Amino acid sequence: MSVLAIAVPSRAVRLEAWVGSGASAEVYRGTLHDVDGDRPVAVKLLKPAAMLSAPVVRDLIAEAWVVRQLRHPSLMRFVELMRLEGQLAMLTEYIAGCDLAALGRLNERAALGAVAQVAEAMAAGPEGFVHRDLKPHNLRITPSGRVVVVDMGLAQIAGVGACTRTGRAGTPPYMAPECFWQDTPQPSRDVFSAGAILFELVTGQRLWGRREYRVRRELRGKPRMHAAWRRIRLEEVAYPPLRELLDRLLQFDAEARPTWREASSLLRGLAAQVGGQPLSARCAGRRWTDEPSSVGQRTLREVKPT
Ligand SMILES: Nc1ncnc2c1ncn2[C@@H]1O[C@H](COP(=O)(O)OP(=O)(O)O)[C@@H](O)[C@H]1O
Ligand SMILES: [Mg+2]
Repeated sequence: MSVLAIAVPSRAVRLEAWVGSGASAEVYRGTLHDVDGDRPVAVKLLKPAAMLSAPVVRDLIAEAWVVRQLRHPSLMRFVELMRLEGQLAMLTEYIAGCDLAALGRLNERAALGAVAQVAEAMAAGPEGFVHRDLKPHNLRITPSGRVVVVDMGLAQIAGVGACTRTGRAGTPPYMAPECFWQDTPQPSRDVFSAGAILFELVTGQRLWGRREYRVRRELRGKPRMHAAWRRIRLEEVAYPPLRELLDRLLQFDAEARPTWREASSLLRGLAAQVGGQPLSARCAGRRWTDEPSSVGQRTLREVKPT
């Protein structure tokens, strides 16, 4: 054994529970073991087949680059990018709780409080920060009611960042109209997504259904048609000030949407006026199992680049 091997103990990650998965990666709750001791982490581990695809590997490295620059309690925090026995893994803070999608419909106060946290976080992000895939499945909520934005797989900072793939980026039900004909790096596209999330939280319905996908592409250059559609959808919202706020967030014209800073004060202001349990009370009253399915624990050792 070389002297160096004795002086630098190797690090390892224990995978403890499976949390979620996408096309190219699995996410686990785990523990990072290094000289500083044991730390709980979330592990985004590329699937073995994905390791053969240079663009996928590049995308995870780019995602880590974005996450590394985030410093806010409601934005996921970076821990490490490591090679674990031949698989690339991004380690971040583990956010106990569940996805916002699992909470289902919320009262107006709780819903406004949740989206206000997202707006505050986005406003406090780095200059030119765009997530491009805000949706309930990419928002974690902790038992104390903290909302955390995760999944920076498509995020960019001032036009640079994750996802080298070209074309439309995002999840159609939450995408701003302009994203159907151009891939824009403007924060206003995320503001629209926040509106779509808020609509879903208070009504229990998707703003856009699957069937309307084709219609949305055809809305290009048709703001009046979009306004008519928006009016119909917003009839689902009973409380007029909330309907007005949603109308602003969901404007067809990206320039007409509020900035994140404006949106966060509008959301906070309205949350303070409406009745109902705040988000923290809603969370306190929930049964949190937080035991994602077990993976039959396994430990992966770090492979240092040679
Ligand atoms: N830091 C984290 N802490 C806890 N759960 C997380 C964390 N990051 C992601 N997740 C969970 O894993 C799921 C998949 O992760 P995500 O980064 O969204 O992958 P994908 O890019 O495949 O959508 C998320 O929907 C969320 O439930
Ligand atoms: Mg995701």
